[in-house]
Amino acid sequence: MPIVSAKNLRAYYIVDVYGFKRTVKAVDDISMEINENEILGLAGESGCGKSTLMKVLLGLVIAPLKVLNGQVIYSFNGFEKNIFELSEKELENLKWEVFSYIPQGSMNILNPTRKIGDTFFDFMEPHMEKFDKKYVREIIIQHLGNLDLPAEILESFPHQLSGGMKQRVTIALATILKPRIIFADEPTTALDVVVQRDVIQLLKNIQKNSKNTIVLVTHDMAIHANLATRIAVMYAGKIIEIAQTKDIFKNPLHPYTKYLISSLPKIGDKTYKKSIPGAPPSLANPPEGCRFHPRCPEAKKECSESVPELIELETGHKVACFRIN
Ligand SMILES: Nc1ncnc2c1ncn2[C@@H]1O[C@H](COP(=O)(O)OP(=O)(O)OP(=O)(O)O)[C@@H](O)[C@H]1O
Ligand code: SF4
Ligand SMILES: [Mg+2]
Repeated sequence: MPIVSAKNLRAYYIVDVYGFKRTVKAVDDISMEINENEILGLAGESGCGKSTLMKVLLGLVIAPLKVLNGQVIYSFNGFEKNIFELSEKELENLKWEVFSYIPQGSMNILNPTRKIGDTFFDFMEPHMEKFDKKYVREIIIQHLGNLDLPAEILESFPHQLSGGMKQRVTIALATILKPRIIFADEPTTALDVVVQRDVIQLLKNIQKNSKNTIVLVTHDMAIHANLATRIAVMYAGKIIEIAQTKDIFKNPLHPYTKYLISSLPKIGDKTYKKSIPGAPPSLANPPEGCRFHPRCPEAKKECSESVPELIELETGHKVACFRIN
């Protein structure tokens, strides 16, 4: 039973540019499920709509973003509701305790004028029935210890920490209330490879110890290979393939997924890596039919005329491509 099911989601940015309406079709008819205890990776090139999809799944829909269609059902412990039908208060109650969000570039959102410890206190106070600072401090120190972070950081200001440490602090903040689902948007981008490894390990440990669900956005397929249970590949506002990680890497079906995987370096392999031809389309004016057709080496006539549906070919392996379906 999935913990989150999205059905026919359509979310566009509707922007007014000097009196002209510009519509960016960032999430265009997406249906997907998030299962309990999995790490679901969302992959795809820059600008394909990964962050927008994540925000919509969280009910974080702020103008100019608008949901035109669809629903996102959260179901657990007898609770079953569409996130778009929740009151502000209900949504606030779900936030952090049921799901937490680590936004893109989050290591820069720590308040520069507050010590890390005070940021933790500020964050936790509204969630505690009775706020006993000494008790809360113990909880924080224990949580940091579980994540292999030193308690001394509580006395530091953000500028005194490295980028990697700041990112780990934001992950610690987002997980201290033990949420069931953690949405993390590019948590390793802008970090060097060694620090990336620490952040990946941290996410792995959190998932293993707390048995929660992680939805992880990154354009880096190597990180998905290392971390994700399943991978959903996005292209131009749509999910074009979704499967278990091992199936995506062993048996990629969509021509775009094949490109993403073949561009990954392999140890000892000195063959020339093919990059994806052409550029991603503008989501203000995406191509008709299959949105990948102008770049697809396997395109046929039908591809520019109709939109391929995401169809389950083998158990749990879905793909949207006329060559395969
Ligand atoms: N506030 C906004 N107003 C208008 N268009 C936006 C806004 N935010 C994002 N977009 C557009 O929506 C599309 C999807 O953007 P999104 O940030 O979801 O992509 P992404 O896959 O997360 O990219 P990246 O990997 O670079 O983070 C892009 O074309 C982007 O320019
Ligand atoms: S539907 Fe056609 S254009 Fe799209 S990926 Fe498949 S073969 Fe290529
Ligand atoms: Mg993004």
